Amino acid sequence: MSEKLSIPIRPRRNRKSQGIRGLVRETVLTPADLILPLFIHEGDDDQAIESMPGCTRWSLDGLVREVAEAEALGIKAFVPFPAISDAGKTPLAEECFNPEGLVPRAIRAIKENVPGISVITDVALDPYNSDGHDGIVERDEKTGELRILNDETIAVLCKQSLCHAEAGADVVAPSDMMDGRVGEIRKALDSQNFSDVLIMSYTAKYASAYYGPFRGALESAPKEGDKKTYQMDPANGREALREADLDAAEGADILMVKPAGPYLDIVARLREAMDLPIAAYQVSGEYLMIKAAARDGWIDEEKTVMESLIGIKRAGADMILTYFAKDMAKRLG
Ligand code: PBG
Repeated sequence: MSEKLSIPIRPRRNRKSQGIRGLVRETVLTPADLILPLFIHEGDDDQAIESMPGCTRWSLDGLVREVAEAEALGIKAFVPFPAISDAGKTPLAEECFNPEGLVPRAIRAIKENVPGISVITDVALDPYNSDGHDGIVERDEKTGELRILNDETIAVLCKQSLCHAEAGADVVAPSDMMDGRVGEIRKALDSQNFSDVLIMSYTAKYASAYYGPFRGALESAPKEGDKKTYQMDPANGREALREADLDAAEGADILMVKPAGPYLDIVARLREAMDLPIAAYQVSGEYLMIKAAARDGWIDEEKTVMESLIGIKRAGADMILTYFAKDMAKRLG
């Protein structure tokens, strides 16, 4: 049509000033889109984390202060990740459902002191498991190979979820990738009158090298083997839709894609295919690539972070977990 009328089409008109660009902007990021992951430990001190410059392993007092600041900046949710001492790690990861454990105490401290923010808890065994895997490990006596036991692990994840719900968690987020865990956790929660606790499922969690710095922060790397028999193959896209269908059928409230930046196509495909809200996790490796390049003066940190988050939201994420949440909330505020 435009050819027939021979009107020159000039898309640049819609970019001509800040005001016009604001009018036609399709994607807007707000602090309420951001979820802040925070590391916690048993000590009274707040420790800088060597493998993740700019992040801190908080004491419970430090956590309360940090969460209060985040809440004041408009952030609506955070996730505590516990660093458990070697003494607390066992093959069956029993510490993960100890009602006096680090995570339940952190939840209670936040609920008492910063009631305005939602607590999302990571549900998986790796911080508590002496093998460093997300599930219970068994060694095949003949081949010597490790197996991650699916259903035995789910029984423990249900206890862990209940423990978090009892302490006051608003959302439990299973990050373990066992088959069928969302449905079993839903049943367990409902049976104990926690039908209002949400499940944010790590639906498409890929076996990714980008998690390296996080495992350094928690000293939670697998002692042997890798996570490829439960986390997804980075080469697969359709499989994410299969996982999403299953999680939705099992009662998940929010579906997550992780990592975010290298998997924007998966975010977009899930957004298209599913009605449920979609979360995306900008993981530790994505964080560090920006931090390292900015530290050396090679890129502008603030602008690059903003662009990376806008890209994730544009692809279809309703909410983004990012270690930059507080910095960005300050900037957006
Ligand atoms: C644990 C868990 C991991 C991350 C979040 N939850 C590590 C893993 O699966 O090995 C990674 C987060 C990040 O890299 O920022 N199940």
